Amino acid sequence: MKILLAGGAGYIGSHTAVELLNAGLEVVIVDNYCNSSPVAVKRVEEITGKKVESFEADIKDKAKILDIMKQTKPDCVIHFAGLKAVGESVKLPITYYRNNIDTTITLLECMAETGVKSFVFSSSATVYGEENDIPYVETMRRGSCSNPYGWTKYMMEQILEDAAKADDKLSVVLLRYFNPIGAHESGKIGEDPQGIPNNLMPYIAQVAVGRRDHLTIFGNDYNTKDGTCRRDYIHVMDLANGHLKAVEYAAGNKGVSVFNLGTGQPYSVLEIVNAFEKANGIEIKYEFGPRRDGDLPEFWANADKAEKILNWKTTKTLEDMCRDTWNWQKNNPKGYETE
Ligand code: NAD
Ligand code: WQD
Repeated sequence: MKILLAGGAGYIGSHTAVELLNAGLEVVIVDNYCNSSPVAVKRVEEITGKKVESFEADIKDKAKILDIMKQTKPDCVIHFAGLKAVGESVKLPITYYRNNIDTTITLLECMAETGVKSFVFSSSATVYGEENDIPYVETMRRGSCSNPYGWTKYMMEQILEDAAKADDKLSVVLLRYFNPIGAHESGKIGEDPQGIPNNLMPYIAQVAVGRRDHLTIFGNDYNTKDGTCRRDYIHVMDLANGHLKAVEYAAGNKGVSVFNLGTGQPYSVLEIVNAFEKANGIEIKYEFGPRRDGDLPEFWANADKAEKILNWKTTKTLEDMCRDTWNWQKNNPKGYETE
C-alpha cells in the first residue's frame, strides 16, 4: 500500500512516515516546507533505511498535486498540511482559513479525479470547544472554538463528512489528536518550532538546552489540584502508530469514522516540568505568569473507541516522552538547522 503524506515533513508527518515505512508501506511526502525542512525527510530515510519519494509543492496548487498523484498513484492520503499556531490564527485568520480549508478541498478534488478513496485527517481535540464535559468522547457536539485555527478544524471535519455522504465509496478517518510531545527514540527527528515555541514541551526543551532563560507557566490559580492546567500528552510515536491503524481501517471501511488519539491520563504543567527534570536530571527554571487567553483548565480524551475499533493503545510513558524530547533537543540544539 502506498500512502501520500501531505505535510509529511512536519513534526507528526515525519514520525508517521517512519511508522508506516517500518510496517512495510510505501510513503510519498509532499510539503512546501513552510514549517519544516527537507532534512527531516533525509532523516526519515536514515532511520528506516528506506527511500522516500518526496516533492516540494504547495498542497493548494491543484495542477501540481494532480500531477503528483497521477505520477505516484497512492492508495490513501493523510492530510497533515495545516497551519497550527493558535495565537497566529487570531492575527491572521484569513491565511489560516485559506491554507487549511483550501488544502483539504484541493486534496479531495485530486482524489476524486484520480480515484483515490481513503483519506485520513489530522483533526484536533480543539473541535470539542469550550462547552463539553471531560473526558471528551467522539459523540460530543463540536463547536464553540476559541480561535480561527480551531474553527478551521471544525469546518474541515464538516467538509469531509459531506464529501463522504455524497460518495459512498469514500472512506474518511478523522483523528482528533490531544497534545503530541516526544520524539523518535533515535533523536534524529523531532519537533522543530520556528521562533519562540508556543507549546509547552518545545519551550521546556529550549530552556533545557539554553536557548531560553526560563519557562513562564501560564496561570497557577486554576481550579485543578496544583493550580496549573492539565492536558492529555501523547507520545508522537504512539500517535504515529494510530495513523498506521487508521490507514488499515480506511482501506477496509467506508464512510466517516472519528477517533480520539490520547492516553486518557492528564498531567498538569507542573507535573510535566517535574517529570522532565527527573527523567533527564536537568533543572528547568520557571516562573508563574498570568493565564493565557483561550486556555481551558483541563481536558483529556476518552480513547476507548480507538482501542476497541482500531485495536490501538498507547505504550509510552511520560518518562519516555520527556527522555525522547531531550534526546532530540540535545542532539539538535538548533533543530534541523544543524545540517
Ligand atoms: P507541522 O507544522 O510540523 O507540520 C505541518 C506540515 O505541513 C509542515 O511540514 C508544513 O511545512 C506543511 N504545510 C503546511 N501548509 C502546507 C501547504 N499549503 N502545502 C504544503 N505543505 C504545507 O505540524 P504538526 O504538529 O506535524 O501537525 C500536523 C497536523 O496535525 C496539522 O494539521 C495540525 O493542525 C494537526 N494537529 C497538530 C497538533 C499538535 O499539537 N502538533 C495537535 C492537533 C492537531
Ligand atoms: C499546554 C499547557 C499552557 C506554553 C495546543 C492547541 C491545540 C493542539 C495542541 C493543535 C497549557 C501551558 C504552554 C508555555 C505554559 N494543537 N503552557 N507555558 O494549548 O493544550 O494545545 O496544542 O490542534 O489545539 O491549542 O498546548 O502546549 O500550548 O499548552 O504554561 O510557555 O501548557 O497554558 O496549560 P494546548 P500547549
